[in-house]
Amino acid sequence: MKRIKLKGRGVYQDYDGLKEDVFFESTTENGMTTNHIYYEIDGKGYGYTLEFANDLNEAEYQGRKVKLGKIMQGDVKKFKVYVKNKGIQTKNVGMNSFEYKLDEKVDETKLLDLVKKLNDDPNVHGILCQLPLPKHLNEDMIINTIKPDKDVDGFHISNVGLLNTGQKSMVPCTPLGCLMLLREFVGNLEGKKATVIGRSNIVGKPMSQLLIEESCTVTVVHSKTKEIEKVCSQADIIVAAVGIPELVKGDWVKKDAIVIDVGINKTDKGIVGDVAFDEVSKVAKALTPVPGGVGPMTIACLLKNTIECFKRSQKK
Ligand code: GUN
Repeated sequence: MKRIKLKGRGVYQDYDGLKEDVFFESTTENGMTTNHIYYEIDGKGYGYTLEFANDLNEAEYQGRKVKLGKIMQGDVKKFKVYVKNKGIQTKNVGMNSFEYKLDEKVDETKLLDLVKKLNDDPNVHGILCQLPLPKHLNEDMIINTIKPDKDVDGFHISNVGLLNTGQKSMVPCTPLGCLMLLREFVGNLEGKKATVIGRSNIVGKPMSQLLIEESCTVTVVHSKTKEIEKVCSQADIIVAAVGIPELVKGDWVKKDAIVIDVGINKTDKGIVGDVAFDEVSKVAKALTPVPGGVGPMTIACLLKNTIECFKRSQKK
């Protein structure tokens, strides 16, 4: 098998003028040679973080610094790489980013008091409570205590309601990042068949809602779906957000489909996504690598949402 990189990361511009890595695979199977070109959609390559950072400078220009309060429970080391990157990136672009590290066994009242304190602090513009929370805490209640106007994750029930009724809302960072990549790469999504794998509140459900708004025909599949691979194999677009290493195989994917891999799974062979990259790259037209595809977009969208919350606070 030959895998030839045509141009370097983020410099190839021939596909609708966009920045992608392009690979050419020449595979010999049963004596037949098949040639396939696919694109790696590079989340960093789009430079959204920098774009949003420029927006931040504008916001700072009004004399106030954007402040994000991040609440984490338990051993911070156990959080995945992207969680650490959230902290690094927010600081890199000049945000005032505060981490409140609480004990894993933290008392619910103590956590709620902290959320309320941040809600009431006019110098705090965004609040993020890292999920999942330890089992003894009521996740819904805690999320719904965050002021909707400071809800940078878009998880508060009123933001969820706004999104699901097609109204302006804070949009959860990861699905928003996926949508931006799809819009960049595909352009108009109208009429596309999209399959979302996973039905979480963080990715699967808001992703399906965003794709419906784009006039896609959306199917959500999950652990109880029958013949999941058959459903996937009809899709023009697959978004895999299920947390199972390399679940999506080559024969689940229609030729020239676009595949967005949200998974970040730690395995013996390192970090892998929900998509079996080597197999799927032989059939898909484009897919996102792990790491480097969706992850940087989640962080970029966190900056975008925090700046949005800041701007809203200035209008009051
Ligand atoms: N856990 C996994 N993804 C996310 C996210 O986007 N926001 C929060 N708060 N927790 C998460």
